[in-house]
Amino acid sequence: MEKALNEELERLTALGLHRRCAEGDLGRVAGLTLEINRLKKERNAVVCAHVYQTPDIILGIGDLAGDSYKLADDCRRTAADSIIFCGVHFMAETAKILNPAKKVYVPSGNAGCSLSEAVTGDDVRRLKAEHPGLPVVTYINTSAEVKAESDCIVTSANAEKILRRMYEKHDRVIFIPDRFMGANLAKVLGRTPGKDIILWNGTCIVHEHFSPDLIKLYKRKYPGLVALAHAECPSDLIAAVDFMGGTGDMMRYVESTNAAAYLLVTECGFGELAKLKFPAKNFIAMCRLCPYMKSITLESVLALLRDPAPEEVTVPPAIAARARRSIEKMFELAA
Ligand code: 13P
Ligand code: SF4
Repeated sequence: MEKALNEELERLTALGLHRRCAEGDLGRVAGLTLEINRLKKERNAVVCAHVYQTPDIILGIGDLAGDSYKLADDCRRTAADSIIFCGVHFMAETAKILNPAKKVYVPSGNAGCSLSEAVTGDDVRRLKAEHPGLPVVTYINTSAEVKAESDCIVTSANAEKILRRMYEKHDRVIFIPDRFMGANLAKVLGRTPGKDIILWNGTCIVHEHFSPDLIKLYKRKYPGLVALAHAECPSDLIAAVDFMGGTGDMMRYVESTNAAAYLLVTECGFGELAKLKFPAKNFIAMCRLCPYMKSITLESVLALLRDPAPEEVTVPPAIAARARRSIEKMFELAA
C-alpha cells in the first residue's frame, strides 16, 4: 500500500498538483485519487470533468475533460458502463440523453446552474405561442424539459456558427436563456435584440458580476496583457476585452498565442488549469467561483463510488427522446 501511495504521489507531482496543494496536503489528495481510480476501474466507470472543476479532479481522476461541447461529444462514445459527471446537473442529463444505456451520476446534490434554473418548459411553450414559427435555439445550460421544447441546442463553442446557419433560413430566432450571451452574439452577427433575436432574462451568477473598469485598470498596470472573457459576461465587459469565447476557445487561444500575460475573466478553475498546463505563461485571474461546480470534491466522488444509487441522474424517456433531437441537431450543424 505504501509503495502504491508513493507512486501516486509521484504521479500527481509530475502533473504539477503539488504546486496547488498546501504543504502536506498532497498526501491526502493522493490517498483519495488512488482509491477513486481503483474503484473506477473495478466498476468500469469514467470520470468526466468540466474545466471549472479543481485540478485534483481534472488531472487526478478525470478520464474525459474539457468544455460542455467536448464532454457531450465524448459521452456519446464512451464504452464504460457508467459516467461520473464532475460538472453540473444539466451536463450529466445531456450525457444520459445521448447515451441512455449508461448509468450517469453527479457527485453532488447541489450541482445546479443559475442559467438552467432561469427557464422552464412552460416558459418555452409560452414563448413559442407568442412567436409562432420562430426556431428556438437553446444554450446547453438548460434542463432536459427545456431542451425537449427546443429546435436546436448550442454551446459556447458553436453558438455563433449555429445562429448563422439559422439565419440562412429564418429572419428571426428565439435564443434562450442567457441574455448576455444572446446580446453578445447579436452584436457579432449584426442583429438587434428584441427585433430579430428574441432573448430570455437568464444570467450566469458567476459571469454577470465582472466589471469592465477592472479590465481597464489591469491593462494599464500590465502592458501587453491580453484579456479573455467567457461569452456569458455582460456586453460592456466584452467590449473591454480582446477575446470572447467559451472555455475551449479560451484555452486554445492561450495555447496558440504568446502574450506577455493573460487576464482570464471566468470561473477560477479555468485559470488554475491553465497555469498547470502552461507553466511558462503568465496569468492574472480575475475570477469568481461557481458554487455549483465547486460543490463537487474528491471526497464526494469517493462517497459516490461507494454508494452510487442516491446520485443517479434519470430523464423520463419521452422527454429524453425529444431533447435528443435538439442535441443531435447541434452536432449536425456544428460539424
Ligand atoms: P463552456 O461550454 O464554455 O465550458 O461553458 C460552460 C459553462 O457553464 C460556463 O459557465
Ligand atoms: Fe452555470 Fe455559471 Fe456555474 Fe456555468 S459558471 S455552471 S453558467 S452558474
